[in-house]
Amino acid sequence: MAKGKVNIILFGAPGAGKGTQAVRLADRFGLTHISTGQVIRDEIAQGTELGKSMDGYISRGELAPDGLVVDMVADFVAKHKETAGNIFDGFPRTLVQAKEFDRIMAKNGVEVDGMICLIIPDEVSVQRLLLRGLESCRADDFSEEVIRNRIAVYHKMTEVVAEHYEAQGKLYKVDGSGTIEEIFERLSELIEKFK
Ligand code: AP5
Ligand code: MG
Repeated sequence: MAKGKVNIILFGAPGAGKGTQAVRLADRFGLTHISTGQVIRDEIAQGTELGKSMDGYISRGELAPDGLVVDMVADFVAKHKETAGNIFDGFPRTLVQAKEFDRIMAKNGVEVDGMICLIIPDEVSVQRLLLRGLESCRADDFSEEVIRNRIAVYHKMTEVVAEHYEAQGKLYKVDGSGTIEEIFERLSELIEKFK
C-alpha cells in the first residue's frame, strides 16, 4: 500500500449496510466513498446514454455489464489515487471485475488493503430493504421479488469475489447484525489497523 493511504472494499449482500457504514467511515477516516450503484442511479437520474443503458438491469435487480462498471471505476481510481484513500462500495461484484480492479489499482500505483465483508442473514436483508422501499425512491426496493433477485444474484455471482481476496490474505468478515453504531465501531477498529 502507498504510505498513509487506505483502500478498502466494503462488501456484502444487498441491505448489509455497505452504504450506511461507508458514509460514516469516509467521514471518520477522511476517505473518498464510491458506490457504483449510486453512480449508476445518478446517471439514470440525469438521463445520460450510460444511464439509459443501465436502467433495465438495476430495476430488475440484475448486474450491469462488467465492462461499463469497470470503466466507471477505472476513471474514479485515476482521479483519486492521490487522496488519503478510498472506500469501494458495491464493487467489485464479479470475478471479472475483481481481476480488472487489481489491474487498475496496480496501474495507478495503489493497492487494496482489505475487503471487509458485512455478514447478515438473507431475511434481515429482505426486511431492511422492504422497510426502505416504503419510503425510498430506489426502483429496486419496491418489490420483494426484485429484492430477492438481488440477493440471489449476490449468492450466484458476487459471493465468490470474497474468495479472490481471501486467497490474497485480505478478507475480513464482520458481523453486520446489530445497531448502526455497533457495526460502525467494529469496522472502525478494523480500519485503524490498516492505517
Ligand atoms: P447497490 O446500490 O450497490 O445496491 P445493493 O448492493 O443491492 O445494496 P444496497 O445499497 O441496497 O444495500 P447496502 O449494503 O448499501 O445497505 P444500506 O446501507 O443501503 O447496487 C444496486 C444495483 O446497481 C445492482 O443491483 C446492479 O444493478 C447495479 N450495480 C451496482 N454495482 C454494480 C457492479 N459493481 N456491477 C454490476 N452492477 C452493479 O442499508 C440498507 C437499509 O438498511 C437502509 O434503509 C439502512 O438505513 C438500513 N440499515 C443499515 N444498517 C442497518 C442496521 N444496522 N440496522 C437496521 N437497519 C439498517
Ligand atoms: Mg448501497
